[in-house]
Amino acid sequence: MTNIEKSTWTEVYDGGSAEVEREGFHQLAQAMLDIQEKNRVAAGAPHAMRTLHSKILVGVTNAELRMDSDIPLPFQVGHFTPGAVIGASIRFSNASGVPKRDDAVDMRGIAIKLALPHGQSHDILMTNYPVSHARNAKQFVQFATIAMGDPATFKERLVAQFGADEAMRMITAVMKGMRPSAGLQTEAFWSRGALLWGTFPVRLVLRPSLDSNVDQSEAVHATADGLREGFANVLNAHPIAFRLAIQSYVDEEHTPIEDAAVEWLESVAPPVGVGTLLIPSQNILSEDGLRAMAQVNELAFNPWNAPPLFRPLGNINRARGKVYGASARAWGASPHG
Ligand code: HEM
Repeated sequence: MTNIEKSTWTEVYDGGSAEVEREGFHQLAQAMLDIQEKNRVAAGAPHAMRTLHSKILVGVTNAELRMDSDIPLPFQVGHFTPGAVIGASIRFSNASGVPKRDDAVDMRGIAIKLALPHGQSHDILMTNYPVSHARNAKQFVQFATIAMGDPATFKERLVAQFGADEAMRMITAVMKGMRPSAGLQTEAFWSRGALLWGTFPVRLVLRPSLDSNVDQSEAVHATADGLREGFANVLNAHPIAFRLAIQSYVDEEHTPIEDAAVEWLESVAPPVGVGTLLIPSQNILSEDGLRAMAQVNELAFNPWNAPPLFRPLGNINRARGKVYGASARAWGASPHG
């Protein structure tokens, strides 16, 4: 028996039960819809957009997740079988709810949709900073709501809501995460929230894997779409690849399930590689490439689009099913997403 199988873990529901907690998620979804509408107005957009991550940077439909031939036994779960190759669509984004220039400070996201048999999918969503500024979903939504108000009084209102220490902790985390990017192919991405991996909780990490990913000769242009253009240049010449690795739950103190603001340190929960996400060399700015990008932008990604073996865990992740669903319905996601 491995240490993981021996470990005990549990989920703790806000309000004491799954039913009470779920009720609270309606309000969070509604608060995010209010933000979505404010963002639409701020952007001068005719239709609602994703409440967060509104700007697509890159969208491809022909990526593959190639599983390692020697995936360690505890990680061989569901479709994660040694040597399997699974087709994937990928959407890279800027995190802001209002589309910004690519050279602006922001976080970046990657949303991966693995195509499973019988029209099922497994969505994996990650951002390029290891932890969330918010411990739980309510904190995430309250922070987002406060951030919509007057910037001059933002800090004051945050302190009034959370107290000085917690407000400063969140501001510091957000400021560390928000920065310019030297190219999407150079970024690492984290799931930040926990998810089930068969029988035990994990978090996921994605890191650039090829030398060509970090080819510095392809500097990012300081243009509105510089991240897309930089990625297109690299991908015209080479494939781009990332290694997918898994961090396993150790204990509630070091690898909490309910507190998404605590980093699962690699010294405590070393990432174990299980596969390579490969984006084939191609011209993403050609007519076909732009068509694929538009198609990906119509897909709704949701961490709850996952087989039960990979169920999202922890309050921050439990809330996301309802919140993302409401947001996607409002912007009119493709029903096949
Ligand atoms: C903590 C871990 C989180 C990660 C790694 C994450 C990552 C992402 C990513 C990558 C996207 C873009 C998806 C796409 O390309 O379509 C996204 C969208 C979004 N996120 Fe999160 N997110 C997190 C937490 C949350 C929380 C706690 C909320 C609110 C309760 C939230 C609300 C949203 C919404 C509303 C969207 C837009 C969904 C849509 O309209 O399709 N996120 N997130």
